[in-house]
Amino acid sequence: MIMFKNALILQLILATTLFSSSFITDREYGERLFKDPRGIGCNKCHGENGSGKIISEYVSDSGKPVTIFAPSLKFFNWQKLKKGIKKHSYFVPKYFLTKEELISISRFLEDGK
Ligand code: HEC
Repeated sequence: MIMFKNALILQLILATTLFSSSFITDREYGERLFKDPRGIGCNKCHGENGSGKIISEYVSDSGKPVTIFAPSLKFFNWQKLKKGIKKHSYFVPKYFLTKEELISISRFLEDGK
């Protein structure tokens, strides 16, 4: 009987640790969304941690050097993300991210790493 009880406790401990490890924080969820937002990842243009990146540099037909830069999104809150995605729709693909998803992305962008 004692052995049975111990086995049960062990199982319970195992189950809770396994179960809890399947949870991710809001920031981790935001990082996943940033890299795979149901379309091309924001990181492909804005850099791995969202601190900005040059996407392309070329010389235009009229001989003018052109740089296409995806700016840093560090510390953007969800409203700024939403507005920016819409405003820059010439470059930024159309995503259908919910407010909650944008909040998670902003958690990832605001941790300074
Ligand atoms: C194909 C490249 C590309 C991808 C992918 C992309 N962006 Fe952008 N984004 C840009 C460029 C380029 C600009 C700047 C446009 C300009 O200067 O006119 C920009 C601008 C923005 C801005 C406005 C920045 C400001 O300073 O106001 C926000 C916000 C933004 N992007 C968010 C996102 C998010 C969030 C994602 C992913 C869900 C994403 N972008 C994916 C290229 C991209």
